[in-house]
Amino acid sequence: ALPKKVRLVEVGPRDGLQNEKAVLSVDNKVTLVELLAKSGLSYIEAGSFVSPKWVPQMANSNEVFDKIERQPHTTYTALTPNMKGLEAALESGVDEVAIFGSASESFSQKNINCSIDESLARFDDVTRAALEKGMKVRGYVSCVMGCPYEGQIAPQAVLNVSRKLLDMGCYEVSLGDTIGVGTPYHTKQLLEVITPHIDANAIGVHFHDTYGQALANIYAALEFGIASIDSAIAGLGGCPYAKGASGNVASEDVLYMLDGMGIETGVDMQGLLRASHYITKVIGRPPMSKVANALMVK
Ligand code: HMG
Ligand code: MG
Repeated sequence: ALPKKVRLVEVGPRDGLQNEKAVLSVDNKVTLVELLAKSGLSYIEAGSFVSPKWVPQMANSNEVFDKIERQPHTTYTALTPNMKGLEAALESGVDEVAIFGSASESFSQKNINCSIDESLARFDDVTRAALEKGMKVRGYVSCVMGCPYEGQIAPQAVLNVSRKLLDMGCYEVSLGDTIGVGTPYHTKQLLEVITPHIDANAIGVHFHDTYGQALANIYAALEFGIASIDSAIAGLGGCPYAKGASGNVASEDVLYMLDGMGIETGVDMQGLLRASHYITKVIGRPPMSKVANALMVK
């Protein structure tokens, strides 16, 4: 059954900006995050505590967290691949952290420089320490619909990694179509394998829109009762590992679809459009969102 209410997980300041060529200033990022929170978003991934050599765009995440004026209704989160990242996140007063694994061995190596098993051992330490501090942990699984190096990925591999992340204490796994290759039929097939073993309320979906399938994929996931959806304002981003890959599905487009279905989000379209307008001005290109292009005052 379709959910009545959906949590929108805004990943633009992290997944979007980590793939933009320019490294944004702290002030630009802070303004973006504050505009997003003002739109009513309850969950914003505002940065990432990873190696600055790997992802220079996220190097100023600690300053971003220091500066944002926080809204009481919003959870501000960051990626933490290891203990060093968790320690930095704790120092910055992050509300919640996310660990990020992969269903593909090759992607794991290229993205975090270790095997899936090694990554799970690290994530176990991170999760244990975060939970001890009373912090919740979200888990990502990448390449659930395909890998830029290995091609097809077995649904069983996705299930295995997801199960392990939940068993170590994540409250939810976000299933990532990292390169945006999935179709609605593929989404349905994957979820038919996953949902007998994992409750829909412990699953999120994370679609990139490379082939224009993201909204249709989200609709397919909603039909399984999934009620946590990742998106990025203005469809920011891309993927350095996949030629022609575009960013995450645009938050404005997801909101338009959910509003049209009468599904509650607590997010205000005008507020999102203000954030979209702001960030696309800063990076100097129009939004990838159809809805923003239709509704924005030029
Ligand atoms: P490594 O080189 O194997 O790490 O990288 P290491 O432990 O050997 O350390 C090497 C250097 O990095 C050392 O510094 C460490 O101090 C430093 P040096 O002595 O050379 O000066 N270092 C750190 N610095 C800051 N913060 C840290 C940290 N850890 C080590 N946390 C590592 C391993 C995981 C660190 C690296 O591979 C990395 O940072 N990878 C991050 C890659 C990344 O952020 N990818 C994008 C996010 S995933 C994604 O986008 C997918 C998702 O959206 C879902 C989807 O779409 O599917 C989530
Ligand atoms: Mg992503």
